[in-house]
Amino acid sequence: MKLIAIAHLKGGVGKSTTAVNVADLAAGAGRHTLLADLDAQGSAGYLLGVDSGSGGPSAKDVARGRKSAVGSVVDTGRPNLDLLPGSLSFRKLPQLIADHKDGPEALRSLLGRLGRSYDLVVADVPAGLNLESETILRTADLVLSPVVPAPLALESFSVLCEFVDRKTGGKKRPPVPVIGFWAMVDRRRKLHRELVDGDRSSAWRDRPTLQDRIIPVVIPYASVVERMSAERRPLSEIPRGGAAMTAYRDLWRAVSDRIGLSGAHPNDR
Ligand SMILES: Nc1ncnc2c1ncn2[C@@H]1O[C@H](COP(=O)(O)OP(=O)(O)OP(=O)(O)O)[C@@H](O)[C@H]1O
Ligand SMILES: [Mg+2]
Repeated sequence: MKLIAIAHLKGGVGKSTTAVNVADLAAGAGRHTLLADLDAQGSAGYLLGVDSGSGGPSAKDVARGRKSAVGSVVDTGRPNLDLLPGSLSFRKLPQLIADHKDGPEALRSLLGRLGRSYDLVVADVPAGLNLESETILRTADLVLSPVVPAPLALESFSVLCEFVDRKTGGKKRPPVPVIGFWAMVDRRRKLHRELVDGDRSSAWRDRPTLQDRIIPVVIPYASVVERMSAERRPLSEIPRGGAAMTAYRDLWRAVSDRIGLSGAHPNDR
């Protein structure tokens, strides 16, 4: 099982939108995928049109091994795609696991045992950096972060990279890779063009190494992406996804290459 954590310090930058589209594309490519909505807001489930009830075992029972979390996983009605809803019962799960010495391993094993065996877990991580997110980031094979082209967003991305480097690197293993991609890009705006095209801007002069960590995938600011929240469907199910759909496909291709899940698969939709 591979785990991608979609994370950013800031709210409202497109984490949940990304999590839903990446999970949907992975499932469409035949990977048995779990979208783990670790945010109590429940946006990922909302965007998929799945209403999460408050039933199921409590986080405490699950973390202590008293009950299985299997009952909490919801079939989204789409082939290969399940959802762990961000219902309140799971709000404290990462925190409870963080309290254990083997935090990341425990979380990984728990996610891996949630139902059937998943090829991929896509975790929608709440904004901010705390013990909960630290546990999830330490567990991940890859941290994926939407970067809005603005100097302050670059600063936040830089803090995230430093945090992950510091918390996950060890003597025996390299740090968990953090990959940024451009999100909500409006090419009519000069600053967006300057940052995305990577030249002349003073924001880059201050951060020469950061540029290498942002892959050349550009998700445009597009009303069709916003429509996901009105129609409660992933972008692939909305007609005329256009450039945004192409960009999300590029993102999935880049990410699946990095974690070794690319290539044809017998379960392809
Ligand atoms: N590329 C885009 N173009 C236009 N609107 C977008 C795009 N990406 C996301 N949005 C919209 O921006 C809003 C925030 O997106 P989203 O909920 O994915 O962000 P988030 O980072 O998960 O927020 P939070 O921190 O609150 O969880 C939503 O209304 C979403 O529809
Ligand atoms: Mg969100």
